[in-house]
Amino acid sequence: MIIKTKAQKNRETFDKLADRYDRIYRAYLRHTHQKMVNKVSLKKEDKILDVSAGTGILAESILSKYGPFKRLVLNDPSKGMLEHAKYRLRYHKEVEYTSDFSEDLSFRDDEFTKIICLNSFRYYTDHPAVLSHFRRMLKSGGDLYILSWNRTGFFRFLNWIITVVSDQEMNTRTLDEMKGMLTEAGFTIQDSEEWRFRWWKFFFVKCS
Ligand SMILES: C[S@@+](CC[C@H](N)C(=O)[O-])C[C@H]1O[C@@H](n2cnc3c(N)ncnc32)[C@H](O)[C@@H]1O
Repeated sequence: MIIKTKAQKNRETFDKLADRYDRIYRAYLRHTHQKMVNKVSLKKEDKILDVSAGTGILAESILSKYGPFKRLVLNDPSKGMLEHAKYRLRYHKEVEYTSDFSEDLSFRDDEFTKIICLNSFRYYTDHPAVLSHFRRMLKSGGDLYILSWNRTGFFRFLNWIITVVSDQEMNTRTLDEMKGMLTEAGFTIQDSEEWRFRWWKFFFVKCS
């Protein structure tokens, strides 16, 4: 199946990148993680899913700023990335780890009060399927936070170059496209922002 093949290819890319990821993208990661940490509103009684958790940098920051939580699950199909997360969070024995593709999430309905998707939405091969999982897994009144690249202006071209050079499968959206998909999936937009950092363009959306 083509969708599966693309997702598996991305997983292999991140498995190979895992040992160098934090070091290579240090400034980019500092910027995007700080942005997300300042945007989320989390409480100790939250059940949180970090859906493409990577090396666990965000989890470490939110645990130190808002935690501990009733539940914190770090999901990522790349076992290589998750190995780093497990080491980073080795003193947080309560943290759970899973390795689903976002197109095929196996959690139950209403299982989370917060879902966070940072720097990852562009890698998903079937956006409507992912959003429909987010919707069913999010408890009524819960929040979904997404921060990703914004395929607008000159960055459309740059995004294309990065895709070719890195040989990654990317499905980058504009903020307006993202809002349209979220509304179609039944979410209500609570907050959104778009901005530029160095040569990247980003969007952030909070919805419930
Ligand atoms: C750029 S990294 C971001 C990781 C982390 N959120 C961060 O900001 O450092 C993208 C992550 O998305 C994950 N990913 C790629 N395709 C995915 C998919 N189909 N479903 C879930 N996660 C996926 C990768 O394994 C990788 O860890």
